[in-house]
Amino acid sequence: MNIKNISKDFGIIEEINYLSTASIGLVPISVIEKAKDFFVELTKGGTITLDEEKEVLVYEGLRKEGAKLLNCRSKDIGVFNSVTEVLNVIAWSLDLQKGKLVSTTIEFPSVTYPWIRLSRKEGLNIELVNSQNGLIPLDDLYESIDERTKVVAISHVEFLTGQKFDLKKLAKITHDVGAILVIDGIQAAGYEPLDVTKWDVDIYIAGSYKWLCAPFGTAIAYISEDLYTNLEPCFVGWRSTEDIWDFDATKIPYAKTARKFEYSTSAYGAKYGFMQSIEYLHKLGIKNIHDYNNKLINILLQELIQIPEIEIISPSSRGSIVTFKFKGIKVEEIRDKLREIKRPIELTIRQGMMRISPHFYNTEVDILQFIQNLKQILKEI
Ligand SMILES: Cc1ncc(COP(=O)(O)O)c(C=O)c1O
Repeated sequence: MNIKNISKDFGIIEEINYLSTASIGLVPISVIEKAKDFFVELTKGGTITLDEEKEVLVYEGLRKEGAKLLNCRSKDIGVFNSVTEVLNVIAWSLDLQKGKLVSTTIEFPSVTYPWIRLSRKEGLNIELVNSQNGLIPLDDLYESIDERTKVVAISHVEFLTGQKFDLKKLAKITHDVGAILVIDGIQAAGYEPLDVTKWDVDIYIAGSYKWLCAPFGTAIAYISEDLYTNLEPCFVGWRSTEDIWDFDATKIPYAKTARKFEYSTSAYGAKYGFMQSIEYLHKLGIKNIHDYNNKLINILLQELIQIPEIEIISPSSRGSIVTFKFKGIKVEEIRDKLREIKRPIELTIRQGMMRISPHFYNTEVDILQFIQNLKQILKEI
């Protein structure tokens, strides 16, 4: 598979200049078809089309692809329904009494909310590191992790600015004080080469519907062996057990792997589609996607830097996301005008800033078309 000329694999990319993957990624047509067929198949035939073996295999297939994506063993991967679900499951399964959680004030809310909620019940202290002009000063982050800290929860790549953290360094600092590191990787997985084993993080969560180009309704999480061996899950159900077909209601013989944190049936079609999408990305090569996206981002930055009305917020260490402000101009006005042109441009506005997030289905032409139209609009208003 060639990363160039990939647009035919995606439905709308020829009519729309889609630069909004940090919100929702496009799903390859082949994956949509396979997931749709799978859904129809299992819906129409009950136990005939979804027998016990197949019900297990849906998760196991995703687990295997997920392990390849994150560089860990299949048994370290749990299959879930969303990133938010995993963050809550982990937060409520840990024993954090009177300890401290470290995160930041600019995190995606799902990263901080579970711990804030928990703090109301358990006396957990919350320390959110302040941003400076949209970015987290690394020294402030590292210094906030001290002997009282029990958990550090943070995104690998920030949703707002694309700021990317050095996970190996963060894991070392976190472990030195005896705390655990929980990483939300939804804004990185799909273009950043991932290596949870090398980084030594405790939890790494990859959601389906952004950079991994998969349907909604699923996420996978690396859970360290230490955690799944020693923690008791906050939610339990028939799928939490070693043999899910045992149906012994009198005790809970937990699975001895990350599967321990799974508990119920779910939207199996979404899981199947997720597996297909990861397979699709693996054929392209995550490192290839990373380098390709990086090239697009560099072209974008070179152009943006020359526009005097723009202040770039994203730092040099960033993912495939560039965020910027307009000096004295309403960003919504520009967004609306970009949607009215011949090949409309789809991008995101977050907290008064414009966010551009290209993926491998975009091209240099897309970036230059955006810049050209942006300059024209700025001249006219
Ligand atoms: C950093 C981050 N975490 C979590 C989410 C939401 O994940 P989910 O919908 O799977 O709970 C988003 C969505 O934008 C996000 O940007």
